[in-house]
Amino acid sequence: MKARAANRYTGLVDKYRDRLPIGQDTAAVTLCEGDTPLVRLDRVERELGRDVKLYAKLEGQNPTGSFKDRGMTVAVTRAVEEGARAVVCASTGNTAASAAAYAARAGLTAFVLVPADKVAPGKLAQAMVHGAVVLAVAGSFDDAMAVVKTLGEDGTVTVVNSISPFRLQGQKTVAFEVIEELGRTPDYHCVPVGNAGNIAAHWIGYSECCPGRRSRVTGACAFCQGRCPYATRLTDERPVMVGYQAAGAAPFLRGHPVKQPETVASAIRIGDPQSWDFAWSAVKESGGWFEELTDEDLLATQRLLATREGIFCEPASAISVAGAMRDVRSGRIPEGSIVVCTVTGHGLKDPESAVRQCPEPIAVEASEDAVRAVILDRIR
Ligand code: F0G
Repeated sequence: MKARAANRYTGLVDKYRDRLPIGQDTAAVTLCEGDTPLVRLDRVERELGRDVKLYAKLEGQNPTGSFKDRGMTVAVTRAVEEGARAVVCASTGNTAASAAAYAARAGLTAFVLVPADKVAPGKLAQAMVHGAVVLAVAGSFDDAMAVVKTLGEDGTVTVVNSISPFRLQGQKTVAFEVIEELGRTPDYHCVPVGNAGNIAAHWIGYSECCPGRRSRVTGACAFCQGRCPYATRLTDERPVMVGYQAAGAAPFLRGHPVKQPETVASAIRIGDPQSWDFAWSAVKESGGWFEELTDEDLLATQRLLATREGIFCEPASAISVAGAMRDVRSGRIPEGSIVVCTVTGHGLKDPESAVRQCPEPIAVEASEDAVRAVILDRIR
């Protein structure tokens, strides 16, 4: 029999169990999520021509292709611990895909509510293939979310949206990984914002890494209780948190919910974010800001990341890099900064919006001459 490597990575619950609300003896429902790459964006840096170090945390490398898996492993492990039979969520697609996969692994039924005809096909396929009961709601994500909140109240089903504190607990681990990788806290951390759970989760994670300055508003560090191994290793630095929204779905920029959110980035087509107060406190406590970008900005950045850095992300995910680039250019993010952008989901989730911007494949005869002619015409 093959010996199992002692240091085999078995997912973020096992790695960070002492800082998560999971019992010592509970088996994690895991697909080995987390431990995602932190990639330096050298070519984007050169294009910017400014003295900044820019990194992308590639959350699309998680098992179902988005950061949701970090939260889902904790939420579903907890649901099993509590004897749940079914989980439910409202979703623009990625939460549904993740809930469906983790529920399948745990032997639970997943009910996922998605806005009808508004979900990228890859995400819908994932939810269906994993055997979730998919409910196409005649309404927006915000309408579906309102229904799910009422369903959760009597305990019939366990809600696994980010209104569950367990989701945020799992997602906070992204901050731990960034600090481990860099050996320090970044100066700025840029995040796409939709329902606003993820930016809050980042802040909880960073706050736990510096025990001297915990968030009073988010109640961060409830599970660390001074056991955080970073307490002796790090200074009490936390990054400035910057949240980016699509211009047509930017309630944080307007200061109130938006009735009919519209953007090509369907993942963040959300008008009434559930983690409103958490997200505001993350931004305010850190001295950060919210900013909005147009669909053109984020599509151009999606293309830039794909063609210059080899990173294929979905439109919503490109917004963190688009925003960071804009804020570096304007000087709002000063030279000398270390900037991390969370790139939240994989581009294969939504190939159509990406392919629409690309030239058509070149039809060619199956002959050397024909192919050589194309090559000679194109090579520079
Ligand atoms: N990026 C992607 C790819 C997402 O799927 C989402 C949210 C976000 C960013 C925004 O994160 O909501 O925590 O502010 N997707 C949710 C879903 C709403 O249902 O999949 P957030």
